[in-house]
Amino acid sequence: MDIKGKTVIITGITGKLTSQIAFHLAAKGANCICIYHKNVEKTWIVHKKLLSITKKVFFLEADLAKHYFVGKIFRKIKDLPGIPAPEVLINAAAVFDKKRFGDIREVYIAKTFAVNFSASFAMIQKFAKLVGRRKAKIINITDAIVEKYQPGFVVYSASKAALENATKILAKELASNITVNAVSPGIIHWPKKIDVRPPANLPADTIANVGKVLQAVDFIIENDAVTGRIITT
Ligand SMILES: NC(=O)c1ccc[n+]([C@@H]2O[C@H](COP(=O)([O-])OP(=O)(O)OC[C@H]3O[C@@H](n4cnc5c(N)ncnc54)[C@H](OP(=O)(O)O)[C@@H]3O)[C@@H](O)[C@H]2O)c1
Repeated sequence: MDIKGKTVIITGITGKLTSQIAFHLAAKGANCICIYHKNVEKTWIVHKKLLSITKKVFFLEADLAKHYFVGKIFRKIKDLPGIPAPEVLINAAAVFDKKRFGDIREVYIAKTFAVNFSASFAMIQKFAKLVGRRKAKIINITDAIVEKYQPGFVVYSASKAALENATKILAKELASNITVNAVSPGIIHWPKKIDVRPPANLPADTIANVGKVLQAVDFIIENDAVTGRIITT
């Protein structure tokens, strides 16, 4: 698929990594439907920068932890003027935290899975319905920590592992018109409040960076036969 002129839906737009993905795709000629949550200040900054790249940018607010809001944004997406129907979905919204095993409570597990797994799943369901029989691509942003079995991150890792598993299954369910892949970055940005960091090396013993994630996103968009793959980068 050539991304130029195509419409991309991106969740978690204010994210440090996600905003870079949006700027990159907009610079390649994509129209962007950006889903933001509560960080309004950062939303304005990203909105302004995206508008300097393309005028075909739409921002929709949603708490993706609730499926009701996923349905609501897709009803709005159908009516957006001046852009073709979406052909790419990037599920990047996530919550990330380090927690000691003994401190983990039901509410923390529920929230992490609601945003990192359930929201992406609901987005995929609505997106697949909207796309129908047209060609489309889904990219789930997971995390290389899934393969590290790192103490302190059991719930976050499990939520991303669930999304990777769903990626492989949905690649079969949604074949042959929709490809479903995941990009699994190593650590690039690290929250200041988390002091003990797991090792950052990836399988090829390289260090993750934004450029490598953008390359993986491009690879998935450009290669129509690639599906059910987890690209660790
Ligand atoms: N950056 C890295 O180093 C790195 C490494 C490996 C994997 N990843 C993965 O890559 C993706 C992007 O990372 P990032 O650094 O851009 O993330 P980030 O800076 O942590 O931002 C997370 C985004 O998710 C949104 N979000 C959280 N809860 C939400 C909810 N209930 N409804 C809707 N949106 C919600 C946040 O919006 P609000 O702030 O408004 O709530 C924010 O825009 C994530 O899936 C992350 O797990 C990142």
